[in-house]
Amino acid sequence: MARTDIRDFQENGRYSGVYILNRKQLKNTKTGNEYLQVELSDSSARISCNLWNSDDFHSLFDSLEEGGFVRADLNVSTYNGTMQGTLNSISHANPTVEEMEGLVPRIKEDPALLHADLLHRAENIQDEVCRNISLTILNDFRKWLLVWPAAKSMHHHEIGGLILHMHEMADYAEAIHQVTPCFDMDYVLTGIIAHDIGKIREYTAGKTGLLTDTSTAGRLLAHPYIGAAYVGKLCERFHASKEQSEILQHLVLSHHGDLEKGAVTVPQTTEALILHIVDEASASIRLYSEVSGKTAPGTWSDNTFGIPDNYGGTRGKLYVPACTKKENG
Ligand SMILES: [Fe+2]
Ligand SMILES: [Fe+2]
Repeated sequence: MARTDIRDFQENGRYSGVYILNRKQLKNTKTGNEYLQVELSDSSARISCNLWNSDDFHSLFDSLEEGGFVRADLNVSTYNGTMQGTLNSISHANPTVEEMEGLVPRIKEDPALLHADLLHRAENIQDEVCRNISLTILNDFRKWLLVWPAAKSMHHHEIGGLILHMHEMADYAEAIHQVTPCFDMDYVLTGIIAHDIGKIREYTAGKTGLLTDTSTAGRLLAHPYIGAAYVGKLCERFHASKEQSEILQHLVLSHHGDLEKGAVTVPQTTEALILHIVDEASASIRLYSEVSGKTAPGTWSDNTFGIPDNYGGTRGKLYVPACTKKENG
């Protein structure tokens, strides 16, 4: 029987098929009973599920691989406004070619074309140090940039998500530069190409190619520092001035904007501010457009991580008005 996309799950429905296992956790209820909590996904959506009964939770837990595939049978219900599943069974799976169809989310665009376009823009950078750094990163990491996601979940988490995120940022920066050319596009473009390159070391990927976990280096150093240290080395290699090296490293270190959001330092040049703004624009607009695309007009979305609520929470809902029009998704 064909797998039903998670996006099409209905309340009280029962579904079975092969899905991606994003996360697994053994937990205890308030009364001390063990249960297994997992997050399943396909290319359409993700869903949190619980298994309440098992002969041996520990050997089942060990047999399941995060970032791998599982065969699952589940019933769907709604809890606190969010769809969730109750598992009847779950086991490790090696999917057939047919079962792989539509399972792993990929960007719709061709990553090789996005990479080639960024390479072309980098070749036209006038500042020699910025151009050399941008071309080195794009060429040395090409293999990873064609596949690497930009996140474990939320925005740009698909195969190819990182190069799409970088390409969107370059487009947003050029649009701002047309309105207010008060910053040096050479530095902003170099910052865009370098800012998340540390994510290749920050995360580990599973069999699907999707990101599964934060690596030891990622936990200890985080991608703003990993990227800035690499940029510092490239500055030495290409004989950047002291100021140029500090300004380029500052771009990477400050791109998250706020210290609470993981920035090592807040943006203190106009180029760093623009880099932060286009990073935020790419991430937030992509997230909101994906969530609104999955939500019927005149209704609220599921609780979604990354959408703030009025009480300081990070799992808010998005309203999709019935009266507005949108061209895509
Ligand atoms: Fe980042
Ligand atoms: Fe980013």
